[in-house]
Amino acid sequence: MKNVLAFNGSPRGKNGNTEKILKPFLEGATQAGATAETLYLKDLNIHECLGCYTCHMKTPGICAIKDDMEIVLKKMLASDILVFATPLYVFTVSALLKTLMDRMMILGDMKIIIANGRTAHPPRFPEKKWQWVLISNAGFPEREHFGALEDTFARFAHAFGGGTHATLSGSILKGMGEIFRVKALLPGFQWFFDACTQAGKETILDGKFSPATQEILDRPLLDLPLQDLVNMTNQYIDKAAQIIRGSKQ
Ligand SMILES: Cc1cc2nc3c(=O)[nH]c(=O)nc-3n(C[C@H](O)[C@H](O)[C@H](O)COP(=O)(O)O)c2cc1C
Repeated sequence: MKNVLAFNGSPRGKNGNTEKILKPFLEGATQAGATAETLYLKDLNIHECLGCYTCHMKTPGICAIKDDMEIVLKKMLASDILVFATPLYVFTVSALLKTLMDRMMILGDMKIIIANGRTAHPPRFPEKKWQWVLISNAGFPEREHFGALEDTFARFAHAFGGGTHATLSGSILKGMGEIFRVKALLPGFQWFFDACTQAGKETILDGKFSPATQEILDRPLLDLPLQDLVNMTNQYIDKAAQIIRGSKQ
C-alpha cells in the first residue's frame, strides 16, 4: 500500500482555497487504495533553518533544532508520495512551506555530484524514492504566474540525487482560486474537482497524471476574456469589502 503525506502551506489551513484542491486529490488517492495524511503547516512548530550545517558536518542527518521537523522527517521517510500544497505567495510558495523546504535540505548529503549535466546532492537516504505532487492556487487568473513556482520545484526535486529520488508526478496550478470562496459557484467547478480526484487516483495507480487529466486541470476555471475577469474580480472585491466594512455605499 502506498502512503501519501500532504503538506498544506496556507495560513488559512482547512478554510483556504488550497484545501479545496487538495481534498479531492487525496480522496482520489485513497479511492485508489493509498493512505493519506495532511499536515497543516500553520499548526506545526517548524523553526527556520539556521544555516549552521550541523546536520551535515557535526551530526550527519540530525538537525540542531529540536522541533516538529523530527516527526515530519519520520513521516516523510514512511511515505511514498509527498504532496506540496500552497497558495501562490509573491509568485512562489508561502513562507510556511518555504520553511519546511529549507529544513528538507537534510534529505541530501552536502557533497555534490553531477547529474544530467548539472550539480545536485547525493541523497542521504539512497533507498528512498518519492513521487512529489505540487498543488497551488493564486489570485491572478493566468497560468503563467506559476512559472517561478514550477521552476523551483523542478530544481528542488533535481537537487536530491539529480531527479532519481524525487520525481514530480504532476502539478495542479489554478489561477483565480479566490473564486472558490463563493460557495454558490462551487457546483459549476465540479468538472475541475473531479479532475483533481482523477489525478489523485492516477498518481497512485500510474505514478503520474495522464495527459488527458492534466489537460482538464489546466483549463481556466472561467473561460472569459481577461478584461471580463478583471472587471468581475474587482466587482467581487468591492462587494466583499462593503460587506466586511458593514456599509452600503
Ligand atoms: C502575502 C500574499 C501574497 C500573494 N501573492 C500572490 C501572487 O504573487 N500572485 C497571485 O496570483 N496571488 C497572490 N496572492 C493571492 C493568493 O494566492 C490567493 O488569495 C489564494 O487563493 C490563497 O489561497 P489559500 O486560501 O489556500 O490561502 C497572495 C496573497 C497573499 C496574502
